[in-house]
Amino acid sequence: MEKILQSQGFGTKKACRYMVLDGLVEIDGEVMDDIRAEFDPMAQGGLHFTVDSEPWVYREHVYVALNKPAGVECSRRPAVHRGVLSLLPDQFTLRDVQPVGRLDHDTTGLLLLSDDGGFIHAQSHPKRHVPKTYVATTQDPVTPELVAQLVAGVKLTDEPAPLAARACQLDSHRIEMTIDMGKYHQVKRMLAAAGHHCVALRRTAIGGLRLEDLGLAEGKWCHLTAEQLACL
Ligand code: URA
Repeated sequence: MEKILQSQGFGTKKACRYMVLDGLVEIDGEVMDDIRAEFDPMAQGGLHFTVDSEPWVYREHVYVALNKPAGVECSRRPAVHRGVLSLLPDQFTLRDVQPVGRLDHDTTGLLLLSDDGGFIHAQSHPKRHVPKTYVATTQDPVTPELVAQLVAGVKLTDEPAPLAARACQLDSHRIEMTIDMGKYHQVKRMLAAAGHHCVALRRTAIGGLRLEDLGLAEGKWCHLTAEQLACL
């Protein structure tokens, strides 16, 4: 059991052993204080247990969606603002859950996190072109010319070719943009290249996974189901 606890981010093998010996772990309502007891974490129905009365389900990997608030850094070593991992259980940090790509500290909305290196790599690979949808609020009113410029493509200083977006005006100061690449500050820089200042940015979808369908309040997270992962 201690190995299972360790794999789920409950600390070192020794710390996990003491959790078991101290009677903090229960399975099916029974204290499980035998460190030699073997369990199949992949058994049908999954392995459900409680640690210090908190319910857990064994997960080989964690795939999480977070509705990121503003003022939170995606960096693993946040410098100025609080780190995004502080919004998740401590166990996730210990099992090396990381953001899949990054959002700026002031960008809000859908952020994926996982401890599955293959998944993170596949999602972030530049060749994969997972479309990402944002709603940007602009300082000045959105114009048909702005939309046309973004659709035609705008030139960013360090990019060899113009970058284009799918774009549509939502209201006087809000535009929805979908981009296939994830260049540094891409949305804000594309808007700036078209002569508009972005005052707020929210990611609303990644592939077919839409933040509004997840029903997450700002700062809240959920595990993704296999069906939701397939939308990516
Ligand atoms: N584009 C940006 O400019 N910022 C983000 O956080 C994401 C996309």
